Amino acid sequence: MKFSTSNFATYFAVTAATAATTTTTTHAFVPLLVSKPLKGTTESSSYANVDRYCVDHPNNNIPNHIAALVGRGLHTKEDHPIGIIRSKIQDYFIAQDSEYKIFDGEDPIVTTTQCFDDLRINPDHPGRSPSDTYYITDETLLRTHTSAHQSMHLRDGYEKFLCAGDVYRRDEIDSSHYPAFHQLEGVKLFPSADVDGAKGLSKEEWLASPECKMIADDLKETLEGLMDHLFGPVEKKWSDDFFPFTEPSFECEILYEGEWLEVLGCGVIHSEVLEMADRGDRRGWAFGLGLERLAMILFKIPDIRLFWSDDTRFSKQFSAGKITTFKPYSKYPPVFKDIAFWLPEDFVENDFFEMARGIAGDLVERMELTDTFTNPKTNKTSKCYRITYRSMDRSLTDDEINVLQNDLRVQSETLGLEVR
Ligand code: DAH
Repeated sequence: MKFSTSNFATYFAVTAATAATTTTTTHAFVPLLVSKPLKGTTESSSYANVDRYCVDHPNNNIPNHIAALVGRGLHTKEDHPIGIIRSKIQDYFIAQDSEYKIFDGEDPIVTTTQCFDDLRINPDHPGRSPSDTYYITDETLLRTHTSAHQSMHLRDGYEKFLCAGDVYRRDEIDSSHYPAFHQLEGVKLFPSADVDGAKGLSKEEWLASPECKMIADDLKETLEGLMDHLFGPVEKKWSDDFFPFTEPSFECEILYEGEWLEVLGCGVIHSEVLEMADRGDRRGWAFGLGLERLAMILFKIPDIRLFWSDDTRFSKQFSAGKITTFKPYSKYPPVFKDIAFWLPEDFVENDFFEMARGIAGDLVERMELTDTFTNPKTNKTSKCYRITYRSMDRSLTDDEINVLQNDLRVQSETLGLEVR
């Protein structure tokens, strides 16, 4: 499955037809590898241990350069744009209701049960495939979304909470996609007395019920307030969406500087999700948003790689509690290289993207498909990609990029690619 152009929400927003039937899941025993939530404290440094992620397992697909990103805790740094946005969101919710519990130190390693089954994401959902997700073992993975913690917190009895963290997805490469980014999840349950009237309703009856409307209205009002809090008074647009874990589901767009921008996904929590979390007597809402996306808009940060930069020309620009416009420092010239190859039958584009990142790291700014050609005689397909290499802090030489590009040509053969 192709990922959406934004870093959040639409990942799981597949069509209802793809989402197909409901899974009934029993709760797999959570292995020792997955630690208990840190109940609101920030304890991410212990996660910065590459050995936790790169384990010897035949289906482990986590390269070192990804494992090295875990545990940086950008969302917990008060003077980092990701941390600044996160605390602005937090302030808004705490001002609404001081009972919101804040989580930001959960283990980024979760089980397939937590990340998918508890949320009605079926075993055959494309988002679960190893071409899209970083697996540690068959049952454990780097969370692909913060929704992975929803059910655990609900089961532990929390009724209103926010949960922020780093999430990981194998993905395409350009200025707004990076394999690691941050999300913030919000959940609110309503008192049983407010939703008792909805007991035993069919799906259609529930969707038409005043209780469902009350929750959806509260959700939209809350999130509209959040958007005004972040962007100033701003025009919003709601559309119906689809997520396996909410029903109904919505997406919100805002009109910002003349452009409609998708900023979040949300909905009324699916009754089966609540039942699996032993909260079948309750109803409520949930939302998820991408922090990089908001930060790129609000701070005018042009490239998602900058968030991970240790360059003081980046970090010195930001201070706690302040949204300021990023002043780009000299952009060094790019080096472009093309690579074309014949494809094997089982070509997985993300494997190729990841290989390039493994070789050239953050020097890869963008990988763009520029040509596809199928030979009518042999029926073989060839693809050509243009790779943009650029450093954030120095000029690159053609010679050094040739070395990397050559490495990529050689290593590509291990993916069954026949370089032309
Ligand atoms: N987890 C979704 C994603 O990453 C975002 C999301 C959508 C979260 C709807 C929610 C929700 O809690 O209700 O694509």
